[in-house]
Amino acid sequence: MIPDKAPEEDVFHGAEEMRRGAHVPTFDKYKEMYMQSIEDPDKFWGDMAKDFFWKSKHTGRFLDYNFDVTKGEIFIKCMEGASTNVCYNVLDRNVHDRKLGDKVAFYWEGNEPGDELTVTYRELLNCVCRFANVLKSQGVAKGDRVAIYMPMVVELVVAMLACARIGAVHSVVFAGFSAESLCERIVDSQCSLLITADGFYRGDKLINLKLIADEALQKCTDKGFSVGRCIVLKHLSKEAQETSLSSPPAKRPCPDLQKEMETVRVRKTRLVPQVPWNPEVDKCWHTLMCNVSDECEPEWCVSEDPLFILYTSGSTGKPKGVLHTASGYMLYTATTFKLVFDHRADDVYWCTADIGWITGHSYITYGPLANGATSVLFEGLPTYPDVSRMWEIVDKYHVSKFYTAPTAIRLLMKYGSEPVHKYKRDSLKVLGTVGEPINPEAWQWYFTVVGDGRCPIVDTFWQTETGGHVITPLPAATPMKPGSATFPFFGVVPAILNESGEELEGTSEGYLVFKQPWPGVMRTVYGNHGRFESTYFKKFPGYYVTGDGCRRDKDGYYWITGRIDDMLNVSGHLLSTAEVESALVGHEAVAEAAVVGRPHPVKGESLYCFVTLRDGTIFNHTLEAQLKKQVREKIGAIATPDFIQEAPALPKTRSGKIMRRVLRKIASGERDLGDVSTLADSSVVEQLFRSRCCPAM
Ligand code: WTA
Repeated sequence: MIPDKAPEEDVFHGAEEMRRGAHVPTFDKYKEMYMQSIEDPDKFWGDMAKDFFWKSKHTGRFLDYNFDVTKGEIFIKCMEGASTNVCYNVLDRNVHDRKLGDKVAFYWEGNEPGDELTVTYRELLNCVCRFANVLKSQGVAKGDRVAIYMPMVVELVVAMLACARIGAVHSVVFAGFSAESLCERIVDSQCSLLITADGFYRGDKLINLKLIADEALQKCTDKGFSVGRCIVLKHLSKEAQETSLSSPPAKRPCPDLQKEMETVRVRKTRLVPQVPWNPEVDKCWHTLMCNVSDECEPEWCVSEDPLFILYTSGSTGKPKGVLHTASGYMLYTATTFKLVFDHRADDVYWCTADIGWITGHSYITYGPLANGATSVLFEGLPTYPDVSRMWEIVDKYHVSKFYTAPTAIRLLMKYGSEPVHKYKRDSLKVLGTVGEPINPEAWQWYFTVVGDGRCPIVDTFWQTETGGHVITPLPAATPMKPGSATFPFFGVVPAILNESGEELEGTSEGYLVFKQPWPGVMRTVYGNHGRFESTYFKKFPGYYVTGDGCRRDKDGYYWITGRIDDMLNVSGHLLSTAEVESALVGHEAVAEAAVVGRPHPVKGESLYCFVTLRDGTIFNHTLEAQLKKQVREKIGAIATPDFIQEAPALPKTRSGKIMRRVLRKIASGERDLGDVSTLADSSVVEQLFRSRCCPAM
């Protein structure tokens, strides 16, 4: 339960002026609203829903659900009977009803300093309508799945919203994923179309996206699934950027992508790669956009119509297609964005996440646009061309709300305060973090060096599955404790369970679960409702199980302690050990593999892999490099192993189960192994300790 009074000791506050005009100005107000959200959710969410356009109103209860597998199928329904369109709400409503047509929706900042583009709400709406018509012209209809594999450009948002406008279901795949991963996701949700780009630069490195996309489509064909159509955005030419977004249709030149590709040079004299082109499948984004109207009536969808699928790692190794639906997700991302960042009309908001992850979906695309916010959309890296880039951008656009990951903070912290202090940061008002627990040292640096001790830090705990923030401070209301995500958001009821599933009261530690749904929680695993039920609801009937451990302190604050399943969190990205292991055993030299996390000062965790080789194979640098490449190609660069150790045998229980707990200790060099009485052969452990990789950190 939420304490009656906020604690006064060992807590931090932002500057007093934060409270003036804040949506939730005090802890008492938070508590009052929280109680209302739990006791009368229909009234609470009903009031929030008034801000949106509903073609028809909902009938019956606001949220209807079953969280108990023993009582039947798990389901969550929000606002049944209502119909709406998410794209209409985040664009048309802002342009027409709220008169925000000339307001900037995005300041796009490219990888290369100097590459920039400003897009207003009116321009965005125009572009989305045109692209929605393009999708229709390519045969995409309501309910169809569309795969999007693009860099961080405004057209990525355009593609998502165009899908939402016509009721198609987008499945964005992070542009860092491999061809294999893209193929797996396309086939799993049977996408009828792929949208991609020629390529992009990440820092100095050119990513040939179209080549990877082509390889993925070929793999799909090999598996007997044909995608048929691929729309390609020409991103590496600046002229194409400008024409695609802002020029009125009549005056826009229609470049022939194929011809231009061969001759065009990228800004800053970089060469554009030759892009393979198959006219039967590949269609040029710009050419298609020239030939369509900029009017497109939205498709009215019912509340539980799917909005998108986003894949997240699953502990069995196969990624899960997390499905979110229209009304509840829209309402929840809009409300969390407004209250957690205390959004004001004149804010400039910047979330550094990639749209390929849930943070980008909820807090670059849907939440901010639903609020008519102005955002920075950044294509590049925090360290390119130098480690001041983030603060330079904060200064350039007068960013007031800034949202990033602990791993980025730890990375930049290494360079000290000088690169930060080179730029003005007095526009900053709220700082946010997401993705993993933030260590108190990084928190302090963020608070004092970046925020000058003025800006509250919102440490937002949530998951792809939760759709939006579920445990988080509110910037003016919640006294902060460095490293704690503090208290539940409105409508969210957490509990901590012990191994037997009993709810623990007061100061305690155990499994973090939720007792009832909120509007934005996922509805199913696409195409596999059984997997949804068994992953999240089977272990403790009646509860949604997060897979995270959690501690509650004497003041009722929640502290997330990290994953308690076979998942790893590398730089804020979840990876399953099984996924990496199956990539490793895919190599002919490997008989068995076990992967664990090893603490890493910047990434949080690094990947430490133990491999048992087939007889007659020798472990050397060449094999090690091959194995790393194998994982990169199967999953993507984020999953590249940091360490690979040869293991003549793995520590197993007598029943043959690998003891990962022991492997984790070996990886991090901790001799205190705890109870190892179930080990079948304890000499294996000593052997592994002797040959462990102990690189300089
Ligand atoms: C972890 C990212 C501690 C957690 C939005 C969760 C966090 C997983 C925090 C979800 C936080 C996310 N403090 N841990 N503030 N935020 N996590 O699906 O383990 O990519 O289960 O969603 O990240 O990762 P996902």
